[in-house]
Amino acid sequence: MESVGLNTFLNPRCSFVLIVNLFLLIFASTSLAQPKTHQHEFVVQATPVKRLCKNHNTITVNGQYPGPTLEVNNGDTLIVKVTNKARYNVTIHWHGVRQIRTGWADGPEFVTQCPIRPGGSYTYRFTIQGQEGTLWWHAHSSWLRATVYGALIIRPKEGDSYPFTKPNRETPIVLGEWWDANPIAVVREATRTGAAPNVSDAYTINGQPGDLYNCSSKDTFLVPINSGETNLLRVINAALNQELFFTVANHKFTVVGADASYTKPFTTSVIMLGPGQTTDVLINGDQPPARYYMAARAYASAPNAPFDNTTTTAILEYKSAPCAAKNCAASKPVMPPLPAFNDTATVTAFSKSLRSPRKVEVPTEIDENLFFTVGLGLNKCPQHLKARRCQGPNGTRFTASMNNVSFVLPSNFSLLQAYQQGIPGVFTADFPANPPLQFDYTGNVSRSLWQPVPGTRGYKLKYGSRVQVVLQDTSIFTPENHPIHLHGYDFYIIAEGFGNFNPKKDTSKFNLVDPPMRNTVAVPVNGWAVIRFVADNPGVWLMHCHLDVHITWGLAMVFLVDNGVGELQSIQLPPADLPLC
Ligand code: C2O
Repeated sequence: MESVGLNTFLNPRCSFVLIVNLFLLIFASTSLAQPKTHQHEFVVQATPVKRLCKNHNTITVNGQYPGPTLEVNNGDTLIVKVTNKARYNVTIHWHGVRQIRTGWADGPEFVTQCPIRPGGSYTYRFTIQGQEGTLWWHAHSSWLRATVYGALIIRPKEGDSYPFTKPNRETPIVLGEWWDANPIAVVREATRTGAAPNVSDAYTINGQPGDLYNCSSKDTFLVPINSGETNLLRVINAALNQELFFTVANHKFTVVGADASYTKPFTTSVIMLGPGQTTDVLINGDQPPARYYMAARAYASAPNAPFDNTTTTAILEYKSAPCAAKNCAASKPVMPPLPAFNDTATVTAFSKSLRSPRKVEVPTEIDENLFFTVGLGLNKCPQHLKARRCQGPNGTRFTASMNNVSFVLPSNFSLLQAYQQGIPGVFTADFPANPPLQFDYTGNVSRSLWQPVPGTRGYKLKYGSRVQVVLQDTSIFTPENHPIHLHGYDFYIIAEGFGNFNPKKDTSKFNLVDPPMRNTVAVPVNGWAVIRFVADNPGVWLMHCHLDVHITWGLAMVFLVDNGVGELQSIQLPPADLPLC
């Protein structure tokens, strides 16, 4: 840049040039802030992947496991053409993206679209509106998301900045779960036997199990840091069926965001994420240069239920202390302590620390006051089935439900199609606003209440209605922390607690000032959570437990949200290439 002396200001011709230049500068910076359109091609295909000493033919996107990281700015548009070259049906869901008026691009199979058949393709088009932070994408068909997932990073609009000091680096940390088997075979086996599916064999960080597993050390994921630097870790729980603790030896996290909403910063040495959740944390290079383990392992809240009790690691490595090939074995990274598997107190302390950065507009008047139980169940063995099809506890088959309805997906139309086009016989709009029967949800529940009713039922919401949902865990078969995810919306979590929700005394605990905004709430084990949102996005939106084994068993329902008035309050027309069943 030329330096502008005092003379310039005194010289009328020069000051004209200066003004023109200033104008150009302003014009240039506003045009920089124009939203962009990002085009991507996703080819879903079987790819050789070796983990835990064994070769697998793994379903991936573009041969990558985990799949590609997408990086955009708030306001940008994504156009992703998905081609299915695998032998399974597939769809892709953009987890946490609001999909305002673009419900056709949301992705859950048989909810907003029919699956992309082998050989087929579908182009997802949507715009990121008012969301910043970390989201992710994953397959939303059977258990394909075990390996078909990746990060979706949303930075502020160009010219805008983070509400915290700009970090020197950013590293996505995608936590996953690995079976030493074909995950589709694992869920098919469970569906056949009625028993719980096999637990996984490893957890992973960015696709790598890490040092504590066989044949995995040399590929352990390395996270670089320099002394004095700040690294923004974008942590995503992409595990299929397990809530996870995550920590780093000798370092503290400053939490700054969750589910692509900023939070009031606070420090902690450990975080917990349910599947579907993301947490953005800052970490400072303020320790002696060395190598430190980052580790994740299970938060297993269901007493006596089997789970994968292994630990995945990555290494935080100070660049001034890289591991020279020879002394590597000698310099074992420092291992952090991890909370006990059943450490619910740590989970509660963490989730209570999450707040919106400032006072937010939570709906105070409520139009729809809903109460949904969430939990497991056991079906008696149907008479026509052989005993080997009923290997659940005491010769039963596992099931799960919300308000005693075990959700069944349609197979001939997507729910959104049926809703938009008024196709009869695909679903009913009579999902109950309250449990059909009141009982001591977290107590000793009578066996007669353990068997839910299957159904494809939705709950209708008028455009703009203000909704409160109390999500109540049940102790049927076992209490458990359920990560409940709502498609198409972010919601405020205004309260959480243990035992049965009691409207008389628990409403006094509601935080209507600075509750956190999320798309997935980890409903406390043997407890409840209260969420609020405004139904301002028309479409059919799935709400389900993000433990895939529970969605397989029916722990889901849909909201049917009407169009409002005029085009801007109505869902767009379906794309021409929308897959049909
Ligand atoms: Cu991340 Cu319905 O899912």
